[in-house]
Amino acid sequence: MAHLFVPGPVDVAPEVAQAQAKPMLPHRSPEFEALFHGCEQRARALFFTQYRVFISASSGTGFQEAAVRNLVRPGRRALVGVNGAFGKRWREVAETNGVAVDVVEAPWGQPLRGTAFAAALEARDDYDLVMVVHNETSTGVENPIAEIAAAVRAVRPEVLVAVDSVSGLGGARLEMDAWGLDMVFTSGQKALALPPGIALAAVSDRALERAKEVPHRGWYFDLLRLEKHRLKDSTPATPAISLIYALDVQLDRILTEGLEARFARHAAMAARVQQWAVARGFELFAAEGYRSKTVTTVRNTRGVDIAELNAFLVQRGMRIANGYGPLKGKTFRIAHMGEIRMDDIEHLLAVLDEFLAGQTDSRPAA
Ligand SMILES: Cc1ncc(COP(=O)(O)O)c(C=O)c1O
Repeated sequence: MAHLFVPGPVDVAPEVAQAQAKPMLPHRSPEFEALFHGCEQRARALFFTQYRVFISASSGTGFQEAAVRNLVRPGRRALVGVNGAFGKRWREVAETNGVAVDVVEAPWGQPLRGTAFAAALEARDDYDLVMVVHNETSTGVENPIAEIAAAVRAVRPEVLVAVDSVSGLGGARLEMDAWGLDMVFTSGQKALALPPGIALAAVSDRALERAKEVPHRGWYFDLLRLEKHRLKDSTPATPAISLIYALDVQLDRILTEGLEARFARHAAMAARVQQWAVARGFELFAAEGYRSKTVTTVRNTRGVDIAELNAFLVQRGMRIANGYGPLKGKTFRIAHMGEIRMDDIEHLLAVLDEFLAGQTDSRPAA
């Protein structure tokens, strides 16, 4: 039974957790190379890509940094979409790496739209990179990535598109090649349901070509260095071998379930949580039509004490998440990603109902 309804880290299946207990291997060994090769090849399906997948011993933020370090040439700029905390974070990652960045903004809860990117790209001709978060974990908004990428291509086809799908990939559809994306990354501890500490990024050929024109890419997240070693089925620095054992097992589990079935399971759980929230007098934070499949952000219109609610859930062995940053107390988040099944959601909602039944509604009288 699932107990973590927070948007990462999430519950890990017992066989995936156990896979980590296998004996270590030297990473410069044929056994490791075979393991790594198998993971890299199968991971491409998650991204719907024919390109390569880098597997890093880091969390997803490492690849936020890799994107800004590798894909923007000196004197050129990046354009980042911000409609929540993680777009905001990515902007900071760019700025703290000395990359000139402009912002396309939408109010939190609203999606970023292709038209806004098109207008920004028409206004300047010195952009190298568009950066956009697929699934804004803070607001529960799924940004329309296919639309945004098409808008970028229509105005400036040479501009690369990098997508943070840290909390989306494996739970919500994202088709890298068909949608024309150049870099897509995710973290293990979200919809892929791995323990934290591993991140995956798919990178297009033209993104690697661009990196060749960037002199100071750093070392650890240098995409060209990662590629050189990937071609030998390895990594430049020591990989997280236990987590790669876990990934190997989990890729089989994910592909056996099937990506289409997995997307349908996540969408059904999202719909159920949304329906429950509205039926109980809450509002949904994310705009209709753009609601996340992996996490629902609920506006706390009933004035529930979320710390108290979570304390109640913890007694039953479960947890949900408070609102993120400025949304703390004003919203709460129910994640439905990874290993969570509809039965788990029904169980959680029944316990939430039990809590609400003991509450007096603190909304001001109409
Ligand atoms: C959309 C998004 N981007 C980036 C991050 C940062 O990922 P990590 O903690 O794996 O570095 C998160 C974490 O929650 C996220 O939800």
